[in-house]
Amino acid sequence: MSDFLQYADKTVVVTGAASGIGKATAQRLVELGAEVHALDYAPTELVGLASATRANLGVREDIDQAFAALPAHIDAFFGVAGVSGLQHDYNTTLLINYGSYKYISKTYLESRMSDGGAIAYVSSIGGINWERYQEELEGLIQADGWDGIVKAIEDLGMNDQPGPLAYVLSKRLINLFTAHTSTELAARGIRVNAVLPTNTETGLTPDFAVMRGGRELLEANAGLNNRLATPEEMADPLVFLNSHAARYISGQPLVVDFGARNLQLLGRKEDGLDRPMLGNAGA
Ligand SMILES: NC(=O)c1ccc[n+]([C@@H]2O[C@H](COP(=O)([O-])OP(=O)(O)OC[C@H]3O[C@@H](n4cnc5c(N)ncnc54)[C@H](O)[C@@H]3O)[C@@H](O)[C@H]2O)c1
Repeated sequence: MSDFLQYADKTVVVTGAASGIGKATAQRLVELGAEVHALDYAPTELVGLASATRANLGVREDIDQAFAALPAHIDAFFGVAGVSGLQHDYNTTLLINYGSYKYISKTYLESRMSDGGAIAYVSSIGGINWERYQEELEGLIQADGWDGIVKAIEDLGMNDQPGPLAYVLSKRLINLFTAHTSTELAARGIRVNAVLPTNTETGLTPDFAVMRGGRELLEANAGLNNRLATPEEMADPLVFLNSHAARYISGQPLVVDFGARNLQLLGRKEDGLDRPMLGNAGA
């Protein structure tokens, strides 16, 4: 079989398609023959898209309007858009990186997908160890509807804290949400996975350089091949996870870091990310 990814004529939605990993993902999907619908609050300049909608994931009306115009059946959803927190407050960072995706999944994806449907989020290596913090994440996972999610975020009482402190929490939440929804949707034949990128050369790189103490440190702490990843090197695993080739893979938080995580798992490097949810900011 030659076309083992089987994206031809599939209806797919990609958030964050204007830049970085989302743009590389949308580009690859166009090349593979999918009907690609892009969502971003910036203009998406890519040839071959079926549609490109300007929408702010932090605004419910924008999401509702965007989905009102999207097809009634969606084969695959790629939740890529996200922010570092450096340009946003704490609550908005949580809302964009996690809350919007919970809302989109519950309100739109679950009713528009059927057997064979697939959802993949771009989380972050910053969200590893999410399984150790389930208790403190539970309230945000259970929050229901847009207003419920907004209230659960407000109830944390953290909005006076810097936005970057919400980044790790938002990525742990999306990983835990991936675990929850993959179990809930399995009986309907819908898969849910996530890619956890290491430091990648994108529009967010300048923010992460500030948050992590400089570009040199970003490079030193990227993959074991000692360079930042390219957006395509994150997009391709993401495209794979939502493809026919990955049809028995669900619930996977796939770390894409050229093996770097193993230094921590083998005890050769301190696990700087194994801290309570407010203790670390970075990619
Ligand atoms: N770059 C890295 O080192 C790195 C590492 C780990 C994870 N990530 C994750 O990768 C994802 C993609 O980011 P990127 O690195 O490609 O950065 P990027 O800035 O190049 O792309 C992000 C895109 O998301 C869009 N976006 C941001 N907020 C939005 C909103 N509220 N509504 C609609 N669109 C919005 C932006 O306009 C942009 O086009 C993010 O979720 C990020 O957390 C990035």
